[in-house]
Amino acid sequence: MTRKGIILAGGTGSRLYPITMGASKQLLPIYDKPMIYYPLSVLMLAGIREIAIITTPEDQPQFRRLLGDGSQWGLSFAFIEQPRPEGLAQAYLLARDFLAGAPSAMVLGDNIFFGHGLTEVLAAAMARPEGTIFGYRVSDPERYGVLEFDPDGRARAIVEKPAAPPSRYAVTGLYFLDGAAPERAAEIRPSARGELEIADLLSGYLAEGALTVEIMGRGYAWLDTGTQGSLLDAGNFVRTLQQRQGLQTGCPEEIAYRASWIDRNQLFALCECHGQSAYAQHLQELLRD
Ligand code: G1P
Repeated sequence: MTRKGIILAGGTGSRLYPITMGASKQLLPIYDKPMIYYPLSVLMLAGIREIAIITTPEDQPQFRRLLGDGSQWGLSFAFIEQPRPEGLAQAYLLARDFLAGAPSAMVLGDNIFFGHGLTEVLAAAMARPEGTIFGYRVSDPERYGVLEFDPDGRARAIVEKPAAPPSRYAVTGLYFLDGAAPERAAEIRPSARGELEIADLLSGYLAEGALTVEIMGRGYAWLDTGTQGSLLDAGNFVRTLQQRQGLQTGCPEEIAYRASWIDRNQLFALCECHGQSAYAQHLQELLRD
């Protein structure tokens, strides 16, 4: 079965109040484009074209306005409401009908990935029948789900936001899982903080040896946008990179065009609707290439 995508873009974004009092966090700008473009681009680079977007009921109209039905990028979007944020693993329950038994790749709507070789890493995860998650060394593991390794260096569990982290490796918000994920998520009991923890779902797979853990090395950037400072840092990172290279990162139009999911005429039409923006100029350059 073809792997389907999920972007989890729910939550109140309360750590960013008052910015997120009037707009969903995942619609905030990361330099020149909305945050959700970046995780969406990761799924597209993996070759995934059928994608569910999970948001709060209140925010869904804005996401629909921005993203449409996906056909402009050769994609197909389904919008799913998450009435209350009750844990990342809840996404698999909400997306159960959408997935209909298919394997999935879920990405958190506020996670930004960048790195040479990312496409190859994604292709390997796509091809693996069992699941894949990604570990990334961070200076502040206590803020994340953290990998715990056995003496042979094999990951044996994931601990969510541990006071005493068992390693420096955080689990990024990109999860390739098999078709059983919704059933398995239904078995999980809420944690002490009342959430269906992704760490519990993943630890179950790990215990069975049914999950590959790929470490993203120092050549990758995995950026997080959870605080005012990290939001600004992510924007500056994208700006620095794009200005230096004259290339875009996280541009769905470009990925769709290069993958031949849209043709020149469609790209031209997309160009037209971006007005006088710098983004429109980049799309024009693509047409000239
Ligand atoms: C969530 C997950 C955590 C993961 C992180 C990645 O945390 O619970 O395991 O490491 O995303 O961004 P949250 O950002 O929801 O606190």
